[in-house]
Amino acid sequence: MVKSLLEEVMTVSLRRGILYPSAEIYGGLAGFYDFGPVGARIRNNLINLWRTRFVESRDFIYEVSGNTILPSPVFKASGHLDHFTDPSAECSKGHVTRVDQFIEERLKLPAEGKPNKELEAIIQEHKLRCPICGEHLREVKSFGLMFGTNVGGERREAFLRPETAQNIFLGFKRVQTAMRAKLPFGIAQIGRSYRNEISPRQSIVRVREFGQMEIEYFIAPDQLDACPVFEDLATVPLNFVTREAQEKAANKSSTDYSSIQITVQDAFEKKYVPNQWMACVLGDEVEFFTLLGIPKKAIRFRHMRPEETPHYSGGNFDLEIQLSFGWKEVIGNAYRRDHDLQSHMQGSQKDLSLDIEGKKVVPHVIEPSFGIDRIIYAILEQTYRPQDESRGWTWFQLPILLAPYQAIILPLLNRPELEEKATTLYNVCKQQKLAVLYDDSGRIGRRYARADEIGIPKAVTIDPQSLEDETATIRDRDTLKQTRSLISEIPKLLET
Ligand code: GAP
Repeated sequence: MVKSLLEEVMTVSLRRGILYPSAEIYGGLAGFYDFGPVGARIRNNLINLWRTRFVESRDFIYEVSGNTILPSPVFKASGHLDHFTDPSAECSKGHVTRVDQFIEERLKLPAEGKPNKELEAIIQEHKLRCPICGEHLREVKSFGLMFGTNVGGERREAFLRPETAQNIFLGFKRVQTAMRAKLPFGIAQIGRSYRNEISPRQSIVRVREFGQMEIEYFIAPDQLDACPVFEDLATVPLNFVTREAQEKAANKSSTDYSSIQITVQDAFEKKYVPNQWMACVLGDEVEFFTLLGIPKKAIRFRHMRPEETPHYSGGNFDLEIQLSFGWKEVIGNAYRRDHDLQSHMQGSQKDLSLDIEGKKVVPHVIEPSFGIDRIIYAILEQTYRPQDESRGWTWFQLPILLAPYQAIILPLLNRPELEEKATTLYNVCKQQKLAVLYDDSGRIGRRYARADEIGIPKAVTIDPQSLEDETATIRDRDTLKQTRSLISEIPKLLET
């Protein structure tokens, strides 16, 4: 049977230590995955690239690192306890189905955000049955996505955070005061989030524990059209799906929308987005994803439909990537106005406003929220290369900045003098802080295959000629070309 791209990517990922189910030896738990030694390196590289671009290169961003368990009043105020739900229906055998997704997949109709009664009507009209056993589906109910727990001897009610953002709002005043920050500034956080998804699926695309990299940009309400990086980003092209395009396609496949090509400047000036800050956030993301090896044509921004957008939002624009099973959101971008700070002021009875020239100001928030796991899956799919005539194995064309290692060092044969030379080169590279791997087990062809399968861009081979003239071959993963260089020059060559 022909494997889907998802299955192919997962087969290599499992075999090569990229990903595997958590607690696998006990049968696992749906919606939980661990990153193996190769996957963890790719994940760390992604996080480092994000931090370099969005935190370190901007002097108005402060990074925090908050806890994942927070007391229940936080989520009462944020609205998660009452509203963070997905529509679900149970069948007579007790299987629970997430209904909006099921309708989208089966009927190719947009269903996210529709009220439960409407979803129920669609189920009845199209005679949809339980996808697991074919039994009748009962009424559609709201299924809470929060993971609860109890803390301490008094067993105080608490919850695992469903997004990293809440810690940022809670610590807003502390950060602002400690860093003497002036608007506009941003607070960034990288960490884990938890959602009790009804139907986890598609490997790490929909899981119950996942990583997020979020920034809350705090901006004075009258400064939303004065973004400090606008000049740098004005000409960046955006592939943009308007709400009108989605309405026109209402009866077609939910991912089949036509898009328009605009620039960041157009997005702002022609009012496709609510303000200049949002236009810049979208442009910044296009540039970042180009670094990650995702082609521009596989990226689009979708203006979320009204029914998918919370009432307080000034506009949500998902960055979606084209995957083998459709366009998938990997970043949620939201103009949240002052909703979060106002909600926590009300919930905590603490003043989170700032005093600006004698006036109390509650900043507005633009929030780009990156999902680490989905981005990694998207990178794996987009860089996956099937086996062909030139090479009898599959491989990942990972950009060097994301690859788990910059190079692999290989002695051609199991001879002590070759192994010694290869080990010396490996140690020199390590001392120079290069990410290198050493492999001396098996035939050289198999070792090249293993290196390609985890996307290592260069393979350096020490062979008998190396003993005579102090040279080694460097094999390029993408072109398969081999060139000889002086061993002493190899660490420098690997840096580029
Ligand atoms: N603070 C805003 C927020 O959390 P979101 O659109 O719910 O917004 C942001 O989530 C990103 O987090 C998504 O674009 C996605 O990449 C990731 N994400 C959300 N739920 C996920 C899940 N169940 N599994 C994997 N990633 C998820």
